[in-house]
Amino acid sequence: MTKSSTPAMPSLRADQAVQRGPAVRFMADGCTVDAFEGESVAAALFAAGQRELRRSPRDNAPRGMFCLMGSCQECLVWVGGRKLPACQVPAAAGLEIESLDYREQRLG
Ligand code: FES
Repeated sequence: MTKSSTPAMPSLRADQAVQRGPAVRFMADGCTVDAFEGESVAAALFAAGQRELRRSPRDNAPRGMFCLMGSCQECLVWVGGRKLPACQVPAAAGLEIESLDYREQRLG
Protein backbone atom coordinates (compact mmCIF):
# COMPACT_ATOMS: atom_id res chain seq x y z
CA MET A 1 0.00 0.00 0.00
CA THR A 2 1.34 3.43 -0.89
CA LYS A 3 1.15 6.43 1.32
CA SER A 4 -1.61 8.82 0.27
CA SER A 5 -0.99 12.52 -0.23
CA THR A 6 -4.67 13.31 0.45
CA PRO A 7 -5.05 15.79 3.32
CA ALA A 8 -6.66 14.45 6.49
CA MET A 9 -10.44 14.86 6.74
CA PRO A 10 -11.52 17.59 9.14
CA SER A 11 -13.26 16.38 12.25
CA LEU A 12 -17.02 15.97 11.82
CA ARG A 13 -17.68 15.93 15.55
CA ALA A 14 -20.29 18.41 16.70
CA ASP A 15 -18.34 19.46 19.79
CA GLN A 16 -16.39 22.12 17.91
CA ALA A 17 -17.84 25.52 17.10
CA VAL A 18 -21.16 24.58 18.70
CA GLN A 19 -23.01 27.23 20.62
CA ARG A 20 -25.52 25.82 23.08
CA GLY A 21 -28.16 27.52 25.11
CA PRO A 22 -28.00 27.47 28.89
CA ALA A 23 -28.58 24.17 30.69
CA VAL A 24 -32.25 23.63 31.57
CA ARG A 25 -34.40 20.88 33.03
CA PHE A 26 -37.81 19.72 31.97
CA MET A 27 -40.08 16.84 32.90
CA ALA A 28 -40.90 13.90 30.64
CA ASP A 29 -43.23 11.16 31.86
CA GLY A 30 -42.57 12.27 35.43
CA CYS A 31 -38.76 12.13 35.08
CA THR A 32 -36.32 15.03 35.00
CA VAL A 33 -34.48 15.52 31.70
CA ASP A 34 -31.36 17.69 31.39
CA ALA A 35 -31.17 19.66 28.16
CA PHE A 36 -29.84 22.79 26.57
CA GLU A 37 -32.36 25.54 25.99
CA GLY A 38 -33.47 25.64 22.38
CA GLU A 39 -32.44 22.14 21.34
CA SER A 40 -35.39 19.97 20.39
CA VAL A 41 -37.17 17.93 23.02
CA ALA A 42 -36.53 14.90 20.80
CA ALA A 43 -32.78 15.55 20.81
CA ALA A 44 -32.75 16.03 24.58
CA LEU A 45 -34.68 12.80 25.13
CA PHE A 46 -32.36 10.95 22.75
CA ALA A 47 -29.31 12.31 24.57
CA ALA A 48 -30.88 11.13 27.82
CA GLY A 49 -31.16 7.61 26.41
CA GLN A 50 -34.83 7.64 25.43
CA ARG A 51 -35.05 6.00 22.00
CA GLU A 52 -38.71 4.99 21.98
CA LEU A 53 -41.19 7.86 22.02
CA ARG A 54 -44.41 6.01 21.33
CA ARG A 55 -45.89 2.73 20.07
CA SER A 56 -47.50 2.15 16.72
CA PRO A 57 -51.29 1.88 17.14
CA ARG A 58 -51.49 -0.84 14.48
CA ASP A 59 -48.87 -3.36 15.61
CA ASN A 60 -47.57 -1.85 18.87
CA ALA A 61 -44.07 -1.49 17.37
CA PRO A 62 -41.72 1.02 19.01
CA ARG A 63 -41.47 4.36 17.22
CA GLY A 64 -38.85 7.07 17.63
CA MET A 65 -37.22 9.93 15.82
CA PHE A 66 -37.14 9.53 12.05
CA CYS A 67 -37.32 12.67 9.89
CA LEU A 68 -36.46 15.30 12.55
CA MET A 69 -38.32 17.95 10.57
CA GLY A 70 -41.91 17.56 11.71
CA SER A 71 -43.16 15.52 8.77
CA CYS A 72 -43.36 11.88 9.85
CA GLN A 73 -45.12 12.39 13.21
CA GLU A 74 -43.24 9.40 14.65
CA CYS A 75 -42.12 11.46 17.64
CA LEU A 76 -45.51 12.75 18.81
CA VAL A 77 -45.74 13.70 22.48
CA TRP A 78 -48.15 15.70 24.60
CA VAL A 79 -46.93 19.20 25.43
CA GLY A 80 -49.19 21.56 27.33
CA GLY A 81 -52.38 19.79 26.27
CA ARG A 82 -51.39 19.56 22.59
CA LYS A 83 -50.01 16.62 20.64
CA LEU A 84 -46.85 17.89 18.94
CA PRO A 85 -43.79 16.39 17.23
CA ALA A 86 -40.99 16.34 19.84
CA CYS A 87 -38.48 17.23 17.14
CA GLN A 88 -40.22 20.59 16.66
CA VAL A 89 -40.58 21.59 20.31
CA PRO A 90 -37.66 23.56 21.75
CA ALA A 91 -36.48 22.44 25.17
CA ALA A 92 -37.15 24.98 27.90
CA ALA A 93 -37.02 25.04 31.67
CA GLY A 94 -40.20 23.80 33.28
CA LEU A 95 -41.64 22.17 30.17
CA GLU A 96 -43.81 19.12 30.89
CA ILE A 97 -43.85 16.38 28.28
CA GLU A 98 -45.90 13.21 28.28
CA SER A 99 -45.55 10.31 25.88
CA LEU A 100 -48.81 9.11 24.33
CA ASP A 101 -48.68 5.84 26.29
CA TYR A 102 -47.82 7.54 29.59
CA ARG A 103 -50.74 9.96 29.24
CA GLU A 104 -53.14 7.18 28.24
CA GLN A 105 -52.15 5.15 31.32
CA ARG A 106 -52.34 8.20 33.57
CA LEU A 107 -55.82 9.17 32.40
CA GLY A 108 -57.04 5.58 32.25
S1 FES B 1 -39.06 12.79 13.81
FE1 FES B 1 -40.50 13.05 12.21
S2 FES B 1 -41.89 14.49 13.01
FE2 FES B 1 -40.38 14.31 14.55
